[in-house]
Amino acid sequence: MDCFQVPPEGDGGLPNDFYWWWKMKGVQRIAIVDPNDKTREPLRNLLLGVDAVWLEAECSRYEFFIDVARQSCPDAVVIALDSDHHKALQLIQQLTLEFPHMPILAVSARGDGQSILQALRAGAKEFLTAPVVLEELLLALQRLRANRGSAGGDTSNSFNGQTRAESLVVSIVGSKGGVGCTSLAVNTSVAMAQDPKNNVALVDLDLALGDADVALDLIPDYTLADVAMNVDRLDMQFLRRSLCKHESGLSLLPHPVQMEDISLIHEEHLGRVIGLLRASYSHLVFDLSKRFTATDLTAMRMSDVIILVAQLELTSLRNVVRLLHTMDKEEGLGEKVKVVMNRVGSEDSDITMEKAQETIEKPIYWQVPNDFKAMFGARNAGVPLMTHAPKSKVLQSLVGLANALCGKAPAVAPKKERRGFFSFR
Ligand SMILES: Nc1ncnc2c1ncn2[C@@H]1O[C@H](COP(=O)(O)OP(=O)(O)OP(=O)(O)O)[C@@H](O)[C@H]1O
Ligand SMILES: [Mg+2]
Repeated sequence: MDCFQVPPEGDGGLPNDFYWWWKMKGVQRIAIVDPNDKTREPLRNLLLGVDAVWLEAECSRYEFFIDVARQSCPDAVVIALDSDHHKALQLIQQLTLEFPHMPILAVSARGDGQSILQALRAGAKEFLTAPVVLEELLLALQRLRANRGSAGGDTSNSFNGQTRAESLVVSIVGSKGGVGCTSLAVNTSVAMAQDPKNNVALVDLDLALGDADVALDLIPDYTLADVAMNVDRLDMQFLRRSLCKHESGLSLLPHPVQMEDISLIHEEHLGRVIGLLRASYSHLVFDLSKRFTATDLTAMRMSDVIILVAQLELTSLRNVVRLLHTMDKEEGLGEKVKVVMNRVGSEDSDITMEKAQETIEKPIYWQVPNDFKAMFGARNAGVPLMTHAPKSKVLQSLVGLANALCGKAPAVAPKKERRGFFSFR
């Protein structure tokens, strides 16, 4: 199924045949390193075939793997030794030194006693002879899990006593065209990027008509299509280089330039790209299309928060009701949705906020004021509001939204003001 249509009111539900992000809780997250494509591929496929395994990161360079492990905090790592035994053993030693309880599985075609001993002495907990057989792999992973459990490590969200630095993943989706998704995605992610502790990436998942690159006046060398096509060979370094850096500190992964490349991006590619991005960035913001395609759904499933952008107008509110109804049918999805009302105070609207809330039966998480001059000017200039209109109320509101999403400010919408620019009838 290439495209998912939102069913009419009271009908249908989300398809069941995609990967459900919530199911990942409880799976063993594995990171593998093998510079040799020919051996990495079957090993990866074997791991991907195991239900209880999530391939958290895949690396083709021993030199970069320590960085991958630091950032992705996997539950176990698999290290193929044969491309360079010396480097691989050094890596095992380094990992063991930094993470003494790291469950390491070494793999080599050299199954002689000497090789096994060397790997175990360096710090590997298990050794398998390549080509790896599924039954042996399952048993080894089971032993690693059991040992890690008994070593006192938390198998869910921490590694070796360190809490895993979870990245915050936010999807921004619209209740109709032109409702303000890209404006909100660009400006909230730029606001997040102002904190030097944050490493923020904006991914343009409006694959056909996205314009986040235009909004930031960036001409990318690579797009999501390049990353998706090379997903099997991606390492952290390549991935970081593929993103385009904006002077605000934000990194952008744009939508494909060529329309025909869109079909190259499948939900399983996107799932893996997001997995890698999560290991590399502290905050991910997705600007989704309004077609509710399989890639949009994958992104939403892998998000912590889904911002549903609406306006005080009939079509938008009706679609909010339909979308909430549909998303509520999928476990774990509906509860992530936060409705953000954009262009509040616009003269065009005669629906009150109270009426809107009553209609959608959900509190409005945030209200963004209407400010055509600032927004339109920023978009035309190809700069974020922070540059174009640093004192504007709309920017203040979006900084507030970014802070609320990051847990730095109370997650409540600003109080309704008295009559005036922000007043609602
Ligand atoms: N709070 C706001 N006040 C005034 N104008 C706004 C506001 N938010 C967005 N706009 C304007 O609305 C228009 C559409 O915004 P934007 O492109 O962000 O929406 P979108 O949902 O991404 O659209 P599309 O469906 O084309 O992807 C732009 O001209 C933008 O400047
Ligand atoms: Mg847009």
